[in-house]
Amino acid sequence: MSTAPLPANPDSSQGPNHVAIIMDGNGRWATARGLPRVAGHRRGADAVRRVVRGAGEFGIPILTLFAFSTENWTRPADEVSDLMGLLRHYLRNELKELHKNGVRLRVIGNREGLAPDIVNDIADAERTTLDNRRIDVNICINYGARDEILRATRSLARQVAAGELAADRIDANLFERELLTAGVPDPDLLIRTSGEQRISNFLLWQCAYSELVFVEALWPDFGKDDLAQAIAEYRRRERRYGGVSG
Ligand code: IPE
Ligand code: IPE
Ligand code: MG
Repeated sequence: MSTAPLPANPDSSQGPNHVAIIMDGNGRWATARGLPRVAGHRRGADAVRRVVRGAGEFGIPILTLFAFSTENWTRPADEVSDLMGLLRHYLRNELKELHKNGVRLRVIGNREGLAPDIVNDIADAERTTLDNRRIDVNICINYGARDEILRATRSLARQVAAGELAADRIDANLFERELLTAGVPDPDLLIRTSGEQRISNFLLWQCAYSELVFVEALWPDFGKDDLAQAIAEYRRRERRYGGVSG
């Protein structure tokens, strides 16, 4: 991993402004090599480093990575604990490098389900990098879109029940403010690795009009070139938002 700083003036004029990635295929990468699944997750963390750096070089202002879903708790206990261990390791050991490279780190997900030391590490990483402006990197941990939408709905229902909000005032803007991604523009491009073609409960509200790119590479093999190809594919697309071609 090179430690050279990210270039100062990347060309991002054609977008995408926000790239989200479902990082899938770590287990299959390991199994294909006769290795335990955790080996794939370790190599997956290396791919995160490459892609964060690549996104900076390509001038992507916002990168959102799906690292652990609300459904991933159903995996065997030792795999969950390996994943949490890697997360701890990442948050503690990458912080300096991320900070140096102008990354503003944010963790999106339900923190109540996470171990207290991880919650502290997250708060520390977010505090340290808060004023960085080169690139926003959002890592989704214990994130599930249905859970997020239900929480938003409950919060609005409580405000209506308390007489603080008229039900008719609930519109897309107000609803978005209740989501975990409040203030983050919607992804323009959603990439999923490993050949799977599904959303798996990721950013269901936010990806309403995202361009979807599915790539065959398993996440540990995904690199800067794959990211560049997905961006090129995005730039060939015509986004219509329900309208007609211009
Ligand atoms: C993605 O790889 C990482 C997480 C979901 C935590 P997987 O662990 O899902 O790998 P496959 O899909 O089993 O190959
Ligand atoms: C989606 O991958 C979640 C993450 C990448 C964190 P999964 O491997 O959990 O999704 P499914 O089970 O194949 O749909
Ligand atoms: Mg998977």
